[in-house]
Amino acid sequence: MSSPKLAQIPADIAAVADYSAYARERLGEQAWAYLAGGAADELTLQDNRQAFDRLRLRSRVLQDLQGGHTRLRLFGDDFAHPIFVAPVAYQQLAHPDGELACVLGAGAMGAGMLVSTQASVELEAIAAQAQAPLWFQLYIQADRDFTVALIRRAEAAGYRALVVTVDAPVSGIRNREQRAGFVLPPGIEAVNLRGMRPQPSGAPPGDSLLLGGPLLAAAPTWRDLAWLREQTRLPILLKGVLGAADAEQALAAGVDGLIVSNHGGRTLDSLPATIDALPEVAAVVQGRIPLLLDGGVRRGTDVLKALALGANAVLVGRPCVFALATAGALGVAHVLQILRAELEVAMALTGCRDLASIGPQLIFTRSHH
Ligand code: GLV
Repeated sequence: MSSPKLAQIPADIAAVADYSAYARERLGEQAWAYLAGGAADELTLQDNRQAFDRLRLRSRVLQDLQGGHTRLRLFGDDFAHPIFVAPVAYQQLAHPDGELACVLGAGAMGAGMLVSTQASVELEAIAAQAQAPLWFQLYIQADRDFTVALIRRAEAAGYRALVVTVDAPVSGIRNREQRAGFVLPPGIEAVNLRGMRPQPSGAPPGDSLLLGGPLLAAAPTWRDLAWLREQTRLPILLKGVLGAADAEQALAAGVDGLIVSNHGGRTLDSLPATIDALPEVAAVVQGRIPLLLDGGVRRGTDVLKALALGANAVLVGRPCVFALATAGALGVAHVLQILRAELEVAMALTGCRDLASIGPQLIFTRSHH
């Protein structure tokens, strides 16, 4: 059997990455494959990390850091720091209380949390435990009436924004899950999707496996985004944009925010690392709408690098889930606390007293002077 959850943080957990080994001991093979794995050869999954590691920072000394802070305001809400919990499905795979424990940990650190459409706990119950703003991650479902009903529930429960994930109309090639024989264990399901008309599936009539078939016929397009805009007054962010063409189209469509994401390396293997894609998107956005990033953030210096290259805030997924699997809400709070503390150290050593002081000048390049 797997090791029990911890009621205290072990002294040898000093960094976010230290949670990975603890989580692995506490998750079954299948849950580990699902939560830790990426698509295919996991090139993108690995590059999300390696691309952060390739960047170097430029220090500044003797700067006046009095009155410093990490606060920011997004969509009318104040946040103590720019570190959010990314949407991750089926958190009961990691902990019996799932999203309820995660939201407690996030709240303890004043962190915003993005709740997955595929959460394993009712979205209202999660909202009832929230101490910081929640955003609802939405997959536009083939059943559009159900999609609207889901939005109404999120609105009524007090969610502050909709985050429409647009990078996964089909599942990625998940070899690690396949090899582990991953299936959802009994009792864990996407409870918020109960009662939805069955999703289209099955092969198209021709000799193609996917293209021309019912799944992609029901997949959302830019037209559906315009439709969605009519359905709600909540701010709408698009998650899963990696390049200028989509960013331009999103801005033209009037979205309220963008999240540079490759779905944690879980969809198309060989997509670029998010930190490498960020500058191209930031150049289009030009600060006109909030821009966030997820994928590979494991250090406060990663947060700083993302902010330096144009993000307003970052999302952290696997580290929160691994901490959840290790020590429940306490673990989640600890991961967020580590990242925040590391960010503050990095800001102090680069001479930044607030988030507005962070810019591309922080990224070291040999030619800079
Ligand atoms: C769901 O979005 C997943 O990546 O498993």
